Formats: sequence, structure tokens, C-alpha cells
Amino acid sequence: MSIYIDSANIEEIKQALDLGWISGITTNPLLLAKEGTEVSALLKDLGHLTSGSVFYQLISETFKEMIEEADRALDILEDKLVVKLPPTDLGFKVCSQLSTRVSCCPTAIYSPAQALVASEAGAQFIAVYVNRATRLMVDGIQLLVDIADVLTNSPTDILAASIKSPDEAFQSIRAGAKHLTLPFDTLTQMSDHPLSQEAVDQFKRDGAGLEK
Ligand code: G3P
Repeated sequence: MSIYIDSANIEEIKQALDLGWISGITTNPLLLAKEGTEVSALLKDLGHLTSGSVFYQLISETFKEMIEEADRALDILEDKLVVKLPPTDLGFKVCSQLSTRVSCCPTAIYSPAQALVASEAGAQFIAVYVNRATRLMVDGIQLLVDIADVLTNSPTDILAASIKSPDEAFQSIRAGAKHLTLPFDTLTQMSDHPLSQEAVDQFKRDGAGLEK
């Protein structure tokens, strides 16, 4: 399992990576736009920050331009790049072409049928929008169960995205997701529990340890 930070904000990403258990960075066009800076420079910075993967989503709208855009991203991020693609006929076609030489992740997946197509197109990951599915359509956790079921013998991994709480994160893994991408606030809540804090306070107050 890998846990990624879903952000394009340098400060958030630095803090997240500093936790020591984050495997990389997922971005999307909206997260990149929010930073209001040149995307190529920002991607270069993200590549310098992590030794893990950096997910970048193609925004071009023709086959040729998407391949060219992926190659530009590859020049910047080299083997750290995972190419995110829209789950459309064009996106899956580009995935088939690119997946022989770079990791691909069709994103905004909302159905088991799309997951099957992504698998056939050679995707290493699919990003399933869990909370959005719950809000807009059906139970996002049940959607993960169904997708995990149809991908049982596939090498394509489920990356649970659009996660809004630690509870939704653990339920996603239990439902069959292999990886998580979490926004900064959810990510920082993952290690918290009030009873753990109580125990830590008591150890500090009443306990003993090795002398300096
Ligand atoms: O990469 C963004 C994806 O995780 C969707 O998240 O919060 O827009 O539903 P959200």
C-alpha cells in the first residue's frame, strides 16, 4: 500500500513528506490551477521534493497533443511520472499507447466497466472518486467493492481518491483499494486519536525511561 498527498501546494507537500510515510504526490488540473504559477516549474519542484511518484493529469484534447504533453511531463519528471488520463475513449486510447513506456492512471473512475477498460488499456492504477461517488451517485465504498471484485485478476491497482476522512480512508482499503491519496487535512488527521494522546500524556507524566 502507498499513501499519497493530493495537493499541488508546496508548503502542504513539504509538511506531508516530512511525516516520513508519504509515497508521493498526486495532482490534478484544478489543484495545479489553484497555485496560480507556471505548471512546468511547479512540476519540476514537486519532482525535487519527493523520491516517489508524481501524478500529472493530461489536459490536451487530441491524441497527438496528449502524447506530446505526456512526453513533456516525462522530460520534467522522468521515472517519477504517473500520467493521469480522463476516462474517455480518447483517454483510454492514449493509455493503451503510453502504458508500455510510462505508468498510467485513468482518473475520475465511477464504474466497474470503466475499471475493466482501464485494465485492458494497461493502466497501472485507476483513481476512483470515493466521496464524490457517495455524494453524487451511489455509496462510494460499495463502488470500490464492485471494482475490486472485477479487477481480482488484473494487475491494475485501485487508488482511492476524493477521500474526506480517516474513516473513509480505512473503509476504502478494506473495500479493496490498494492505495490512498489524501488531501492535507485528512492526511494529518490519520495519526490522531484522543485516547492515544491521553496515553502519551500519562507516559510522560508518570513513566520512566533510559537515563541520558
Ligand atoms: O485529485 C482530486 C480527487 O481526489 C478528487 O477530490 O475533493 O475534488 O472530490 P475531490
